[in-house]
Amino acid sequence: MNKLFSLFFCLVALAAHSEDGYRLWLRYDKVTDASLLQQYRNILTGLQFPAGTPVLAAAKEELQKGLSGLLQKSLPQQASLSAGTLLVGTPKSAPAIAALNLKGLQNLGKEGFVISTTNAGGKKITVIAANDDAGVLYGVFHYLRLLQTGKSISNLAVVSAPKLQLRILNHWDNLDRTVERGYAGFSLWDWHRLPGYIDPRYKDYARANASIGINATVLTNVNANALVLTPDYLKKVAALADVFRPYGIRVFLTARFSAPVEIGGLKTADPLDPQVQQWWKEKTAEIYRFVPDFGGYLVKANSEGQPGPQNYGRNHAEGANMLADAVAPHGGIVMWRAFVYSNETPEDRVKQAYTEFKPLDGSFRNNVLVQVKNGPLDFQPREPFHPLFGAMPKTPLIMEFQLTQEYLGQATHLVYQGPLYKEVLDADTYAKGKGSTVAEVVDGTLEGHKISGIAGVTNIGNDRNWTGHLFGQSNWYAFGRLAWDHQLSAAAIADEWTRQTFSNNAAVVKPVNGMLMASHQTMVDYMTPLGLAHIMGYGHHYGPAPWWDKAPRADWNPVYFHKADAQAIGFDRTKSGSNALEQYAPELQQLWGNRATVPNDFLLWFHRVGWKEQLKTGRTLWEELCYRYNKGVSEVRDMQKTWNALKNQIDEERYNHVRMLLAVQEEEAVWWRDACLLYFQTFSGMPIPAQYEQPAKTLDYYKSLRFPYAPGN
Ligand code: GCU
Repeated sequence: MNKLFSLFFCLVALAAHSEDGYRLWLRYDKVTDASLLQQYRNILTGLQFPAGTPVLAAAKEELQKGLSGLLQKSLPQQASLSAGTLLVGTPKSAPAIAALNLKGLQNLGKEGFVISTTNAGGKKITVIAANDDAGVLYGVFHYLRLLQTGKSISNLAVVSAPKLQLRILNHWDNLDRTVERGYAGFSLWDWHRLPGYIDPRYKDYARANASIGINATVLTNVNANALVLTPDYLKKVAALADVFRPYGIRVFLTARFSAPVEIGGLKTADPLDPQVQQWWKEKTAEIYRFVPDFGGYLVKANSEGQPGPQNYGRNHAEGANMLADAVAPHGGIVMWRAFVYSNETPEDRVKQAYTEFKPLDGSFRNNVLVQVKNGPLDFQPREPFHPLFGAMPKTPLIMEFQLTQEYLGQATHLVYQGPLYKEVLDADTYAKGKGSTVAEVVDGTLEGHKISGIAGVTNIGNDRNWTGHLFGQSNWYAFGRLAWDHQLSAAAIADEWTRQTFSNNAAVVKPVNGMLMASHQTMVDYMTPLGLAHIMGYGHHYGPAPWWDKAPRADWNPVYFHKADAQAIGFDRTKSGSNALEQYAPELQQLWGNRATVPNDFLLWFHRVGWKEQLKTGRTLWEELCYRYNKGVSEVRDMQKTWNALKNQIDEERYNHVRMLLAVQEEEAVWWRDACLLYFQTFSGMPIPAQYEQPAKTLDYYKSLRFPYAPGN
């Protein structure tokens, strides 16, 4: 009977912990390595953690939850220190911490923390200390990460502080719960039932963000709806902000530039009109009454049909400054997006943001950050970094990455973006000579800016596993970790994610890390190799459509971007072409402008290359394209093999989820390869070399495909 009972309880426990990905990287399952578990249990014998504020209470709850899961034991609360105490807090919240006089703490700001193994009155203890509650929260999560990733905790000396101040998610979520470029279901924000109903997921969302250092969130789409600024919605916003606050997360909103007209009853939204200025001041003050720690506004203006200052003959700085003046008395900021390009301007689209914003450098208020996408086009599988990085020394620039995989296979392709983010952050702008990386521009150290930030267009929706594809979680994770410390390597972050998400077992860690690290280049190869860009399906951006030429404007057409003809393919952005290259430092003009030195990754981004021209690889351009597309497909098949071999190491639910999606990815990689090669072949006129798989379908078949209900559009 007893046995039956325990079997029953085991089953109940298993069901409660069904591995559907909901728990993200915060699973806190019992440490499986027996000697490590013993070590942890020996080192940790009691807890001293006075938690008299909401943030400290949240940190303490997380620590207790984590430790009781990982160690399967709860630590007794201790009033005095003894060997094995875990002492947590700030000098203010915990007198024992003040007494320790920890070195290095002073310089860590509000969010930094120290974790150290130390001696207190002859007793060996562990301390997690910070100057402020937020730092304690981050220290606790860091500590739990050490345990979850199987690190030794017997002799710790961690000193950590974020390199960027604002580490922010951008939700492109609409008030009707659709998500622009969202592939993981509907919006998490259940606007209709807020503020009365608080979905427990809001708290888990906040925990997940805090665990990787994310400290802010923009709740609404950049293609904004002014309604969110009305009292009915502000109540709902306030309810969300209340849930997030104990996790150190501040709320921001997108501001529709025409709101004074749409919801304010004014005749104009001209930023120089005193009535408009007054309207925004009052509106902002009202928001702060609902959300006292409101962060400020994110604005997309005069871009893709959004209203903006140019509707009134004013420039971007005049628009941004008006809003900046409204939030300034409350300590708020404005993030003004530089994603602009005009239909009327015949200039190469990738040049336009620079052309428009560079002359405005120095004319923004000091609480404005200009938000710049990682590349000058639009979140392509690969782009060179945006030339504005390093070109606006007087303006703090906030980096915008896109976590949601709009152009990267959406939620069916396994693509870890850690290497992409790193490639951009580590890129050298040469703005102040060699070694002036994009990361240093963004973190403010290059020019000594006081504010800094990084934004991630999130991939989160209400799918049970948050991100649609389980591995999409790795991009959320990597974004947060790099936002905290851009010096971390993509591989180290992948390793953390794998260990926490799956297991510390080397038989899992090694192959999964391998899949993660290869996945980005693999996707580039089967989608847009050699610097090709924007050859996706029109509108929804799902699948290949390099032939598309029917969009209402030239630069929404793939043919605009690849410019293939019978002689050559590629966009000449050198002096003989659009000269977009001139927007980069002379060193880069030299490197990328020269056919002999430009990396193959950017070849067709900057150059037109004849089909028969020989590349550094020894292959002709046509052969290289065939090679890349096939390599991409074969690497997806390698991923499938790697994953299949993990069948007995990974729980059934997540194993099958990924297995099925990899099969879709394989089919779609073949689709990309065959559709693109068949199409480009109509120009090159050459056969696909016989050593490669030959397309099973015709170009006409691929051209006939339509996806009227593709998500996210
Ligand atoms: C892309 C995307 C749009 C989005 C825009 C933006 O163009 O396809 O859906 O609104 O970027 O960043 O504003």
